[in-house]
Amino acid sequence: MGNPLLREQSILFEPDEITSVETQELVKDMWETMDEYGGVGLAAPQIGVSKQLAIIRIEEDNERYPEAEKSEEIVIFNPTITNLDDTLQGFWEGCLSVPGLRGVVFRPRKVQVDFLDESANKKTLIAEDFLATVFQHELDHLFGKLFIDRIDDITTLSFEEEIILSDEEKEL
Ligand code: NI
Repeated sequence: MGNPLLREQSILFEPDEITSVETQELVKDMWETMDEYGGVGLAAPQIGVSKQLAIIRIEEDNERYPEAEKSEEIVIFNPTITNLDDTLQGFWEGCLSVPGLRGVVFRPRKVQVDFLDESANKKTLIAEDFLATVFQHELDHLFGKLFIDRIDDITTLSFEEEIILSDEEKEL
């Protein structure tokens, strides 16, 4: 946080750029970085690349989000996001670019994401519940937004070690 790159709108990929060796290396690097820090998602601007690329994978028993349901491995280029349900749901969000902090963010509970996959094929995914929040959080990174911008009640902004994530709080 504080690096100007995290506040920029990132650049779209050309389809033939997606399948290049350089981009495949970048994706590999992102998986390694995300796994090193135990995240469930990472966006390219977080590792200093201002381009429209994010990855998401929720594993069972993730250290940072133990209650989260697992997801497949998703590589997202050039996404657009559409709200499918305006009902808001709140989660304690954290971010590898804002280490050590969490805050409660309310976001739409169901979204559609249209994007290009690793082979530059068009894909559409519909995400609900926690996965919908993860998509919105990661895609925000591609448009210069951080979760702290979306906290309504700033008094929830807390150090991780101060938060006891009861099941009830996770439903906030
Ligand atoms: Ni983040």
